[in-house]
Amino acid sequence: MKKRQHIYINRLMDAYRGEGAVPPCPLFGSCGGCLFQHIRYKDQLALKKEIVNDALRGVAAVDQVHPSEPYRYRGRMDLVVAFGKCGLRRRGNYRAVVDVTACSIMKEKSNSLLGKIRPFIEKIEGYDYLRHRGYLRYVVLRETSYTGRVMANFVVAERENRLAALLDGIAADADSISLIYSGGLADLSYGDIIENVRAGYIEEDFDGIRYRITPNSFFQSNAEAALRIYRRIREEARGRVLDLCAGVGSISLFIAEASEHVTGVEKSTEAVENANMNKELNRIGNADFICSDAKDFVRDAGGNYETIILDPPRSGLQRSVMEHIDRMGAGKIIYMSCNPASFRDDVQFLQRYTLESIEAYDMFGQTPHVELLGVLKRKI
Ligand SMILES: C[S@@+](CC[C@H](N)C(=O)[O-])C[C@H]1O[C@@H](n2cnc3c(N)ncnc32)[C@H](O)[C@@H]1O
Repeated sequence: MKKRQHIYINRLMDAYRGEGAVPPCPLFGSCGGCLFQHIRYKDQLALKKEIVNDALRGVAAVDQVHPSEPYRYRGRMDLVVAFGKCGLRRRGNYRAVVDVTACSIMKEKSNSLLGKIRPFIEKIEGYDYLRHRGYLRYVVLRETSYTGRVMANFVVAERENRLAALLDGIAADADSISLIYSGGLADLSYGDIIENVRAGYIEEDFDGIRYRITPNSFFQSNAEAALRIYRRIREEARGRVLDLCAGVGSISLFIAEASEHVTGVEKSTEAVENANMNKELNRIGNADFICSDAKDFVRDAGGNYETIILDPPRSGLQRSVMEHIDRMGAGKIIYMSCNPASFRDDVQFLQRYTLESIEAYDMFGQTPHVELLGVLKRKI
């Protein structure tokens, strides 16, 4: 499926006959981060609409992809440090890295912080991820949109701090700085926190709801687009709500005021700790978070939810989970998804539901990816 989609995207790009745009980034074409910079933004949206509708064929169709900021939107960038470079994987080649000095989709403050970090990086041993040797694996830059905070995480392969000069050098330029250990063979840009050199968190604000973001916690990478989607979810959610795959409680807490009660279910212990911290931070009394795999939770869950929110990872949810959800009797299911193919497959299991509306949002400008929001109503 993934391969078929890839071929389809390439075919659409080859068929593109628009006027074209001048890519603002000199690395466009070699860097694997962006695929669409040579396509005018309005044509990108049209292209994405075709990609989404092809993946949804037989189930639904969107009539547009809502635009977002095409550049400077990303609140998270994982820069790999290897082979004397600090940047992103070369397009189509996981074994090579393109040196990045500035990135046109990364937010402004992160770009300026990267400029300060780079001179130090040249003196630090990178990590050869092919031979599994070396020290510094990733520089992860995160930035909030509505509070303007910036975080730098340095992911290293030894439990020791060899970055004193770098950490001193940027101390005044980042609101949070952490040293993180990721020593295994897996290519991970998160792990155990060795030391929070500064703060160990930043905070985002969505319409007055504060979110504390810690180095390892998930947060949507396009805050403006995420906020628009969360507002739509809040308009739809009613009564007792189940938020499955709740992460750090971002949606649960955002909609709590409009709901009778929200139960957030999430399998990551760290995310649940974050969700509880965010609940306290916002003094929200009608939300609870449960650490559980979705499949275990729905197996024993009764039919006491009016609304079920689903926001799974790209792979979607297991068939057994969807079958249980279908039987739980909620009046409405709100499904947020970054993968139209798994969205389509999952929705097909919900035989007692009709897809009442579907919207697509451009959360990932310059890439083929799209975020979907579907609202399903119970038939009987
Ligand atoms: C796309 S994130 C969404 C997080 C949150 N809804 C948000 O908007 O920030 C998906 C979340 O699902 C969690 N997850 C993945 N598989 C799961 C499962 N089988 N059971 C429960 N949670 C799961 C992941 O840990 C992750 O936090």
